Amino acid sequence: MSRKTLRVSKIKDGTVIDHITKGHALNVIKILGIDGRSNGVVSIAMNVPSQKLGVKDIVKIEGRELNPEEVDKIALIAPHATINIIRNYKVVEKQRVKLPSVILGIVKCTNPACISNIENEPVKPIFYVEREEPLRLRCHYCGKIMGKEDVLGQF
Ligand code: CTP
Ligand code: ZN
Repeated sequence: MSRKTLRVSKIKDGTVIDHITKGHALNVIKILGIDGRSNGVVSIAMNVPSQKLGVKDIVKIEGRELNPEEVDKIALIAPHATINIIRNYKVVEKQRVKLPSVILGIVKCTNPACISNIENEPVKPIFYVEREEPLRLRCHYCGKIMGKEDVLGQF
């Protein structure tokens, strides 16, 4: 691509979440708990032309690296995302998010009658990933099918 300037400048230290599914940059921000009270520079680019995806969103977070649970949540809504760790301006690690075939613990079943939602039942939520994009999860216990919107409502 013959671009004369960078759309968003490179960062010195932190994390670049690249190849986010179009329209989901703000959901990634939400998953990371970033709001008006957060410190640190956060840059968001939406609808950036991409060879791989057509268009993509990008989120750059300075001075922070992500924990595994945050990465797993991002995988649910942006299964093609890459997490780039930047130290002293260099990409020192590039990780493609990976959605496991079975999801344990990070989402709850939206069926209130599901055994996984009954208090005092020692039952952890389990979901099978039936499709990555658009997301389709099936509850192990009650068979409830959940999509991206159901998951986003919980983050
Ligand atoms: N980046 C950044 N600051 C840096 C280094 C990289 O913001 N100091 C960003 C780049 O702009 C890019 C992402 O981090 O969005 C990954 O950088 P790089 O691996 O150099 O880019 P590509 O090779 O294009 O990545 P990929 O192969 O994953 O598409
Ligand atoms: Zn259920």
